[in-house]
Amino acid sequence: MRKKLQRFADNAKRRNVIELSKASHTHLQGRWRADYFNNKNDLVVELGCGKGAYTLGLAQQFPYKNFVGVDIKGARLWVGSSYALAHGLCQVAFLRTKIEQLDQCFAPGEISELHIPFPDPRPRDRDEKHRLTSPRFLALYRQLIQPGGYVHLKTDDTGLFAYTLEVLRVQPISSLVYTEDLYQSEWLAAHYGIQTDYERKFLAQGAAIKYLRFSFDTVEPTG
Ligand SMILES: C[S@@+](CC[C@H](N)C(=O)[O-])C[C@H]1O[C@@H](n2cnc3c(N)ncnc32)[C@H](O)[C@@H]1O
Repeated sequence: MRKKLQRFADNAKRRNVIELSKASHTHLQGRWRADYFNNKNDLVVELGCGKGAYTLGLAQQFPYKNFVGVDIKGARLWVGSSYALAHGLCQVAFLRTKIEQLDQCFAPGEISELHIPFPDPRPRDRDEKHRLTSPRFLALYRQLIQPGGYVHLKTDDTGLFAYTLEVLRVQPISSLVYTEDLYQSEWLAAHYGIQTDYERKFLAQGAAIKYLRFSFDTVEPTG
């Protein structure tokens, strides 16, 4: 517990951890590039980033993009924040918030690309609304992502993957590609060799990693 409290105290002082309680939080909505990153580069957001392995791995490979890892668990974000500080990754920030509140943190069209690696599968029917690929979350992402921007999902969970494909069937999306075994597919290169803690754990258990990617249509569907 002491370790956790120390991490929270560190987060409160760090520029690369943005929290609801900090004045910077609302101020940054629509102004991440201009006021936080001081550039005009693409803004890539990872949802449920945990310790930030995916965000950090991408940032090391794409120095001319900006990255924000989002999670509600401050002690996990501290790990990613510490790594970014130690390695001089100035184009990485961590945002501590509920993903449900993403529209209070980003402006419409502000996000270039979204990654959702290994979200909690939430298998119980009554938890459907908490799945990060449920219609209410997709409506949120659609509002915030720029036209043509990709949403990427990786999961080991067969149920969540099937559920997501089913939800997407009636969504205004395009450019959907998917594979039920990323490591045997042509899409593997799209994952830049980055494995998160959860991915390593699931691979060790022999799970096939599923992947899909899509973008939202820009025109409202009719009928
Ligand atoms: C299964 S872990 C995956 C972590 C990381 N993506 C990985 O692959 O190692 C899911 C993460 O999502 C976060 N999370 C789940 N639901 C969330 C929500 N509604 N808002 C913010 N974070 C959430 C959890 O705190 C947790 O760190």
